[in-house]
Amino acid sequence: RRWPRAARLALLPLLLTCCLSCTGGGSGGADPSVAGAPGAGDRLFPEAGNGGYDVTHYGLDLSYDPASGRLSGSTAVTATATQRLARFDLDLSGLTVASVAVGGRPATFSRAGDELTVRPARPLARGARFTATVAYAGVPATLTDPDGSKEGWLRTSDGAVALGEPVGAMAWFPCDNHPSDKAAFDLTVSVPNGLTAVSNGELAATTRAGGRSVFHWRTSRPMATYLATLAIGHFTVSRSATPGGLPLYTAVDPRSDDPETAAALRRIPEILDWESGLFGPYPFASSGAIVAHLPSGEGGYALETQNRPFFPGADGPPAAPLSTLVHEMSHQWVGDSVTPRSWQDIWLNEGFATYTEWLWAAHEGGDSLDTSAAAAFGDSAAWAFPPASPPTAADVFAPPVYRRGALVLYELRRTLGDSTFFRLLRAWPAEHRYGNASTADFTAFCHRFTGRDLTPLFRTWLYGTSKPAQL
Ligand code: ARG
Ligand code: ZN
Repeated sequence: RRWPRAARLALLPLLLTCCLSCTGGGSGGADPSVAGAPGAGDRLFPEAGNGGYDVTHYGLDLSYDPASGRLSGSTAVTATATQRLARFDLDLSGLTVASVAVGGRPATFSRAGDELTVRPARPLARGARFTATVAYAGVPATLTDPDGSKEGWLRTSDGAVALGEPVGAMAWFPCDNHPSDKAAFDLTVSVPNGLTAVSNGELAATTRAGGRSVFHWRTSRPMATYLATLAIGHFTVSRSATPGGLPLYTAVDPRSDDPETAAALRRIPEILDWESGLFGPYPFASSGAIVAHLPSGEGGYALETQNRPFFPGADGPPAAPLSTLVHEMSHQWVGDSVTPRSWQDIWLNEGFATYTEWLWAAHEGGDSLDTSAAAAFGDSAAWAFPPASPPTAADVFAPPVYRRGALVLYELRRTLGDSTFFRLLRAWPAEHRYGNASTADFTAFCHRFTGRDLTPLFRTWLYGTSKPAQL
């Protein structure tokens, strides 16, 4: 009997898939269909992240020696294969890998650039859940971003700090280093007694043995790798709670304890309360801040590390000015809970956080919103490119992303009116809570939520390549 044409066509993909998996089943080396891609497909950072799996949990078990700068231990990456995998990549920069095991069985591995390629003893089936455990050691590298910022691993006089936006996380643990793959974290780190290790999430346990202290930090809500931090050193730790009962854990290097920073940190409960009014309920189980002390010239930047933003104290200027604290705290909703799908969507973080700074200034009796908007509009650097289209990886933290990004919200409020605009501002983080969102998700959401055609607004303010005649 002859198969009808439709049935023959339907069988074709089945036959093809079968052939591919057969040829890939043995060594799995040659067939690209059983290799996870070396990048997540980001236009601006093509090598960041990887294909073929989705991480659900990172378990870091580390030990640090401040005198030598050596970090050693292991990272267990638990993931689900999204395709058949004879091999897959993790992102890792520098360090020496001693061994890799998948599902407890030794795996072979190789390294090229920032890619660690792992070949499990047997290929992983699509849908399989697996844990890849990487044992490694070395002095982690300080990386220079495309924009010239220093990040990854920065040594301090008594310890070190880890900063990862955009790609610094791979300097201290092997990972799927792209914002689209968020996961829970457990970080256990051993340091000499007297030093404190601070990270994201909540402190699950502290133990002491043999002259060392072990800190176990747990982040249960999904976190992007760029938001993971670790700060080791002498810190003054204060633990308290907001009036609403949210636990606060703040660690300040005494050398960065300037009066302006201290005054700003005291206002964390008030800032969180005010931002909850803007963006809806605070998304995480704790808050606080980390204020480090970096030798001058070492770089570093303030970063919205999940739960607990990071501030680079230096000799001289205040470590955590109030406006910066307000900015980083707002990222807990826009950035950390709702994370950009790709790096070109970063204006969804920075435009929103800048707009929040403007609102805060007006709320505090400083510059009015119109004054802040006019200053951004008048800044020629803000018009170099449309906010959602940074031309290169060096541009993701440039003025158009921050200032012109904030102007998109300013215009949206003008068009929608206060009532609809502020309802939208609360609905947006709820829509993508603990997930990812792209620029297209945002514009589609605005259309759906308001029932209005906002195409002309977005065409001019979000996508337009030329500066409008007036604000
Ligand atoms: N997200 C940080 C902030 O604006 C900035 C990170 C800058 N990173 C960089 N590599 N330039 O709060
Ligand atoms: Zn920011």
